[in-house]
Amino acid sequence: MLKSGVVMSSVRWKIESESEVDSTNALVLERARLCAPEGLVISALSQTNGRGRLGRTWHSPPESGLYFSILLRPPVEVEQTALMSLIAGVAAAEGLADLTGVSVGLKWPNDLRIGGKKTGGILCEYEKSGGPPPAVVVGVGINLETPPGEFPEEFRARTTSLEEAGAAIEADEALGAILERLDYWYREFLANGFEPVMRRWEALCDNLGGKITLSTANDAIEGKMVGIDMTGRLLLEPPGGDIRAFDSGEVLEA
Ligand code: BTN
Repeated sequence: MLKSGVVMSSVRWKIESESEVDSTNALVLERARLCAPEGLVISALSQTNGRGRLGRTWHSPPESGLYFSILLRPPVEVEQTALMSLIAGVAAAEGLADLTGVSVGLKWPNDLRIGGKKTGGILCEYEKSGGPPPAVVVGVGINLETPPGEFPEEFRARTTSLEEAGAAIEADEALGAILERLDYWYREFLANGFEPVMRRWEALCDNLGGKITLSTANDAIEGKMVGIDMTGRLLLEPPGGDIRAFDSGEVLEA
């Protein structure tokens, strides 16, 4: 159970800016092992080995995107730490929308999308040593002005950037806007539990009620995207069947 009711003051962000790194997630995980406190943020102008979900590479060329990782140490039970990735998704979507006026949607678990095309992603990684509390490293990558030709061929048609959506913004202002919303939603989660986040996540989800296919390690399940549950699982309703909950997989659309 979540230890709800925790009243927390604002997170003290300590931002370190690097030029080229292999992966900001790798750097923050290393610092977590060395007992770095909550609030450390490492951002980089480019990454040579940016990590994505499902073992993919996150293409991170210079002068194109925002790449950063945050260290949090949420005082919750270990099974609740995975919720941080959905909390970060809500914060990033809101931060970018507040700054640009462009509507930014979410696709489960935490793809950031504009007009149904991916413009950012989040990868959370976990580290027990250097705690307690254990560390959650929230890695965020945003395509700010990535030219379409820079995206890997297989993702090109489903990917966009904020610039392409008519919203040219600086990396620093995007980082500030996202951290501001993350501070809000993190404290809301600690004070009142996951439900308010879940409701907001569903309001931001851009394919709620739509037909999807969930691709898992051994299966592809079709159905309607009906929301998420209190543990962050995807809720899918197969045609004529009961709603099922999934904690992993990739959502594909027609
Ligand atoms: C995804 O696959 O959608 C998640 C991508 C997350 C990429 C970010 S970029 C900053 C941070 N460092 C990494 O190596 N990965 C994350």
